[in-house]
Amino acid sequence: MVKARITGTGSYAPKRILSNRDLEKMIDTSDEWITERTGIKERRIAADGETTSDMAAKAGKRAIEMAGIEPDEIDTIIVATVTPDMDFPSTACFVQHKIKAHKAASFDIAAACSGFIYALSVGDSLIRSGNSRYVLVIGSEIFSRITDWTDRNTCVLFGDGAGAVVLGKATGHKGIISTHIHSEGSSWKLLCASSHEENAKTFIRMQGNEVFKVAVRALEEVAIEALEQSGLTGGDIDWFIPHQANERIIQATAKRLNVPMEKIYMNLQSYGNTSAASIPLALDEAVRSGKIKDGNLILLDAFGGGFTWASALVRW
Ligand code: ACO
Repeated sequence: MVKARITGTGSYAPKRILSNRDLEKMIDTSDEWITERTGIKERRIAADGETTSDMAAKAGKRAIEMAGIEPDEIDTIIVATVTPDMDFPSTACFVQHKIKAHKAASFDIAAACSGFIYALSVGDSLIRSGNSRYVLVIGSEIFSRITDWTDRNTCVLFGDGAGAVVLGKATGHKGIISTHIHSEGSSWKLLCASSHEENAKTFIRMQGNEVFKVAVRALEEVAIEALEQSGLTGGDIDWFIPHQANERIIQATAKRLNVPMEKIYMNLQSYGNTSAASIPLALDEAVRSGKIKDGNLILLDAFGGGFTWASALVRW
């Protein structure tokens, strides 16, 4: 049976670092509060004029290089983002132009922090159906531009970045085993950002502790869905790479799944919550640092605004 396999990974983070100490000078907060409640120490901020597609293209090129193919060989580009360059064209169309992926189909997916796994799920289907030979799947976000830098409840949480994978065909036991994607729109008000309401500024609005509770439950449920479908348990996982929102959410989820701390890959201390970029950014770091080894079983798990939630099981 034809499967899709991740053949290359790449990431990009803007140079500018905003630390918790920097935030202490901007709002009524402290490094201790942010570290204890979230695990975040610093985050990256895109430069003036730097766009979501600039970052996506850089991450995408690195993934294409690792995959050992030419940009021209990419049939489809999918960018997961809720902070696009423009309403239209899609951010993916800008990426297509910037990386010179001649005539590749390009479109965006908006599923907030679950966006990367949603995009991976679509890319996986395109490969398995034979519709595409290579798919470039990217998560890229500039949350610093939709953050209210006077709101201490939200501005300490988010950051900017991009991560990408190339999907190609695989046979045998390696590749994407399954993906699982869900949504429930009724609680949208708990986590949203809009420029489409009268007098609205595009700022994130969030009821943090409500989101926290729903997130832990949904992350557990969708991870179990993936494991059970393959007759596996948390004990079979070599690497758990969850959406990097909050260390306490990740720890609570891992505990419910019986995944020990040493099998969790976390880099939120350096980047904060980069929404759709967080999982591919963490995956790329884990791959390039040699932590992920041939044959490892990886569980990806995400939750975000919508609400949306998603998981994927991958045999490396
Ligand atoms: N610095 C200092 N104090 C703060 C700050 C801050 N940056 N922010 C809030 N506080 C205060 C609050 O005002 C409150 O004070 P009060 O008791 O006097 O009213 C106190 O700290 C506790 O506030 P809570 O909101 O109850 O704190 P909580 O422990 O829930 O932590 C947090 C807040 C970190 C936002 C947590 O709820 C959380 O992580 N929620 C999940 C949200 C999340 O990760 N969202 C990202 C989106 S999810 C996804 O990725 C889509």
